[in-house]
Amino acid sequence: MKLEEARVLDHREIGGGYRLLKLAAPAISPAVQPGQFVHVRVPHYETALLRRPFSVYKTEGSSLSILYKNVGRGTATLTHLQPGDSISLLGPLGHGFPEPAAEHVPVLVAGGYGMAALYLLARNATQKGVAFFGGRSAQDILCADEFTGLGWDLHTATEDGTSGYKGLVTEPLDAWLSAEGKDRTPEFFACGPNGMLQAVGERAIRGGWKAWLSMDRNMGCGVGACLTCVQKIRQEEGSWQWKRCCKEGPVFEAREIVWDEDVEAGNSKPASTPNAPVKM
Ligand SMILES: Cc1cc2nc3c(=O)[nH]c(=O)nc-3n(C[C@H](O)[C@H](O)[C@H](O)COP(=O)(O)OP(=O)(O)OC[C@H]3O[C@@H](n4cnc5c(N)ncnc54)[C@H](O)[C@@H]3O)c2cc1C
Ligand code: FES
Repeated sequence: MKLEEARVLDHREIGGGYRLLKLAAPAISPAVQPGQFVHVRVPHYETALLRRPFSVYKTEGSSLSILYKNVGRGTATLTHLQPGDSISLLGPLGHGFPEPAAEHVPVLVAGGYGMAALYLLARNATQKGVAFFGGRSAQDILCADEFTGLGWDLHTATEDGTSGYKGLVTEPLDAWLSAEGKDRTPEFFACGPNGMLQAVGERAIRGGWKAWLSMDRNMGCGVGACLTCVQKIRQEEGSWQWKRCCKEGPVFEAREIVWDEDVEAGNSKPASTPNAPVKM
């Protein structure tokens, strides 16, 4: 992990409120593994003490890119960055995706900016597989050409039907699993909203397959100290313990994740000495 003043090389809007920010970050970029993130200090935003986490979308030698959506005050402030400006990065952080197992078909599932977390995995994978990208409308399907250009078979789904299947991304995924899932055992790699992650995880557990899910949590420190980002992780015998998404995650295997409904249903209890999260 390095702390680096990165220089803005390029910054452009790509539609739908999404932006692509390319940075010269020679200390961090070569060390990034698929699914890792950088913690970004928002410049010229004095009241924002906390950095903001963003997946590393792409690395090219000494530069890296992030692909972000303007959702609040921090990201709105980032939109003002100009080429030549500098910005403080901490990274690479977190445990990203494992290398896809050679005996399975890698299946990527993403919603919105979740696609950014999957690009390096898609680029590095020796065996290209199938990708299912979803969003509200066509503008939420990001960088489709980049994935198809690498040889991935891309299926899209949008709620308004402006790209691909009209509906949730799990619907074309289910169709593919019914047609192909018996002959070609999938291994899932997913990043997106919680509901989508949970749905992918349920399918994997039901089918006896693995699903690696990248959890999106608010983060304070990004380095394991503040416990803002904790997630309930299954222990043996129906109990759970807090784990930090910034340190032990953000990627966990579906069987490890205890969703709140499991706890409410009494299927999982805290381990005897749970490490309680700290509110920031
Ligand atoms: C590991 C990781 C990787 C991420 N990668 C990307 C990425 O590649 N591209 C991208 O656009 N975003 C990504 N995010 C989400 C991004 O960090 C938030 O959108 C950002 O912090 C919002 O900051 P803000 O100040 O603009 O919004 P705020 O003003 O803080 O909040 C705006 C809204 O977003 C919510 N919010 C804030 N932070 C998060 C968060 N971390 N997760 C979910 N909701 C949040 C707030 O509750 C509020 O409703 C990632 C988050 C994590 C944890
Ligand atoms: S963000 Fe501080 S422990 Fe994870």
